Amino acid sequence: MSFKEQINTSRLPNHIAIIMDGNGRWAKKRGRLRMFGHENGTKSVSRTVEAAAELGVSHMTLYAFSTENWNRPKLEVQTLMKLLIKSLRKEIETLQKNNIKLNAIGNMDALPNKVLIELNEVIEKTKTNNRLVLTLALSYGSREELVSVVKEISDKVKNNIISKEKIDESVINEHLYTQNLPDVDLLIRTSGEQRISNFLLWQIAYAELYFTNVLWPDFTKEDLYQAIVNYQKRERRFGKTSEQLN
Ligand code: FPP
Repeated sequence: MSFKEQINTSRLPNHIAIIMDGNGRWAKKRGRLRMFGHENGTKSVSRTVEAAAELGVSHMTLYAFSTENWNRPKLEVQTLMKLLIKSLRKEIETLQKNNIKLNAIGNMDALPNKVLIELNEVIEKTKTNNRLVLTLALSYGSREELVSVVKEISDKVKNNIISKEKIDESVINEHLYTQNLPDVDLLIRTSGEQRISNFLLWQIAYAELYFTNVLWPDFTKEDLYQAIVNYQKRERRFGKTSEQLN
């Protein structure tokens, strides 16, 4: 039986987040430049998002560019930004066809203007779509996000907009970049690395973690189905006992 056939569509993860890793190694194995890996990585983005939408997953968040990625060689950063613009232009039709709403999280001020313009245009054009919310984490770092949350809340306390006693988990949630997104249920990282790399630290508190050796440009729809099947075999206890769940 294929992995797709094994999926119980009534128990899908609501929110899948992916650390797309291994583009560079994929290219190196073929004697090509790193960008060749990134270019092929965009094809995996396309098919993975499409597979999630077809299944009925409501939220998918992709780690496309981290705050730490700014430290890569200038040429790689520039080419990645160009690739992002090209992909946004190319994928708008697929997003519309599949009723997918585009969203972005991260420190948008750090992005080149050209990327911002393209990004905002696609966000605007897809804003009424409602089958799947696709969030791109761009210039995103979880620690930076948490610092911005602390600053915003402390400003509000200082200006008597909120009292210190009222600060709880929901107040923090409301100040995160991900304020409109549900918690992550399944976090996938490709390429064999088993790290979180400053991605959605608060939001993955109870996520199931799934690591695969597949390099991102090789990631297929079937790989996504396999991750979901694996997720569905796990018992999510949220701190309770097995008996309490039954
Ligand atoms: C990690 O591989 C990948 C990235 C840092 C960038 C991800 C970007 C894409 C898949 C393309 C553009 C994205 C969208 C949303 C259109 P790596 O370079 O760290 O690989 P390595 O660990 O093998 O060197």
